[in-house]
Amino acid sequence: MTRWRHGLVLFLLCLGVACRERSGAPAPAASASAAGPTKIVIGMSQCNLGEPWRVQMNADLERAAKKYPNVELVFKDAQNDSLRQRAQVEELAARRLDVLIISPKESAPLTKPVAEVYKKGVPVIVLDRAVEGDEYTTFIGADNRRIGREAGKFALAALAGKGTIVELQGLMTSTPGRDRHEGFREALALDKNPGVKVAFVADMQWLEPNARREMESALAAHKNISLVYAHNDPGAHGAYLAAKAAGREREIKFVGIDALSHEGVRYVEQGILDATFEYPTGGAEAIELAVSIVGGKKPPKKVTLGTRLYTKENVKSGGQALE
Ligand code: FRU
Repeated sequence: MTRWRHGLVLFLLCLGVACRERSGAPAPAASASAAGPTKIVIGMSQCNLGEPWRVQMNADLERAAKKYPNVELVFKDAQNDSLRQRAQVEELAARRLDVLIISPKESAPLTKPVAEVYKKGVPVIVLDRAVEGDEYTTFIGADNRRIGREAGKFALAALAGKGTIVELQGLMTSTPGRDRHEGFREALALDKNPGVKVAFVADMQWLEPNARREMESALAAHKNISLVYAHNDPGAHGAYLAAKAAGREREIKFVGIDALSHEGVRYVEQGILDATFEYPTGGAEAIELAVSIVGGKKPPKKVTLGTRLYTKENVKSGGQALE
């Protein structure tokens, strides 16, 4: 072999080694193509799975993710504990993560952990319950103030201007609780409707057993209750059960929010609730957005989901979209 040929063989050998070394390198974080084979890791921090609506949200996320074989969804359940949720967000962020989705239990304690992940450069999608400030990528959720207003309009019409209301609030340290309350009061306009009064208000923290207990107190304190506005369907159902046990369910109208097909909508069909407003989980939208962000698309700061009203008049025809 001439010196020249020897050199060429050596050069080709080196090239081969270099190529092999490169293919053995760790996979780069997903970025090039969302639809391509690069694995996309999405972390999902769920505040609890004790309520049917949250089980539905996780199922919606999972179903949407199945469309993308390269998406790996990592779920965490904070079991309704903000401190645990904070630790789980940190745990998720400590691994290779392309997008974090979070449905926070409460706004204040989860604001900083979310901001820290966001500042590290990981896109964060906040679902349904908000955090404070704007250190996140996108918020997805329905307009809770609007839903509260619609519930207020429904109550005014149902009472024809006269009656006593019980308001069973969702956790008031979470944004949907505050917004559903404020919107409701805005629409009630109590100063202009002197025949209507809100006689009893309690925070049932989104939980049916709490709502039932609070309603027992309301029933004991007030001889005439015309309508219960509960910030979610489990709350409205708990109130109904308390009224039924007291033999007073027929004199009271019950209004809830969520409208899951197997929960609130069924209650309306059964004549337990007079109305429920759909609160979409946003699970599918969150996955689509996460994949598109990884694919390089610029996300909007906010995605507002719609709602529907279900009453006994329209429940058979699938409710009414509220534009
Ligand atoms: C479930 C839930 C729903 C409610 C939503 C508000 O945890 O309480 O019933 O609509 O959270 O964030």
